[in-house]
Amino acid sequence: MEKKLRLGFLASGRGSNLQAILQACRDGRLRAIPAIVISNNEDSGALALAGREALPACHLSGKTHPDPAALDEAIVAVLLKHNADLVVLAGYMKRIGPVMLRTYRHRVINIHPALLPQHGGKGMYGLAVHESVIKSGAKETGATVHLVEGEYDSGLILAQRRVPVHRDDTAATLAARVLATEHILYVDVLRDIIEGAIRLPEQESASPGRLHDGT
Ligand code: GRF
Repeated sequence: MEKKLRLGFLASGRGSNLQAILQACRDGRLRAIPAIVISNNEDSGALALAGREALPACHLSGKTHPDPAALDEAIVAVLLKHNADLVVLAGYMKRIGPVMLRTYRHRVINIHPALLPQHGGKGMYGLAVHESVIKSGAKETGATVHLVEGEYDSGLILAQRRVPVHRDDTAATLAARVLATEHILYVDVLRDIIEGAIRLPEQESASPGRLHDGT
């Protein structure tokens, strides 16, 4: 039987994307196992949700590890301990460290509430994203799932879905409409990764083994 993909989540806040993905794992739409939830915020909705679902979860932040390099190492150690194959950022407000980017090269994905590369980058989070969209006069916005390769909101775009902007939208009404689409898109992208419809770039560390297989 095909091995299920093990997901490691990093989340800072409310956790509604986490919830959508957990629900899809539970009802069989996703052949994946939620392996671990890590949050930098002890009071996050994401950690509370993990608790209610009895999932492995922990708080790792500048509070537990004041040295950023040690924090990076600690997060990766927890992900490896729980055999996470893919790291899913679900509203994670911290930068990803170099050890994580190296260990999980091409295996860290994020969702952004706009059509990248527009309305992304430093400072573009929360309602600021939707305020920027409304200010631009755009008739549509959307959600983007992309690989995390270091810089804010950069990295290969895996999928996008469009959402209309209404004339009377506020940042809050637009955020709510985009969020509903995020929940669908994130699950769809994970399913496509699992089923091979979206192919992530090879991890260099994995290639030598594969090249020598049977040759
Ligand atoms: C979402 O809008 C996501 O696009 C962004 O952070 C927000 C997280 O929301 N990266 P939630 O915690 O999943 O509810």
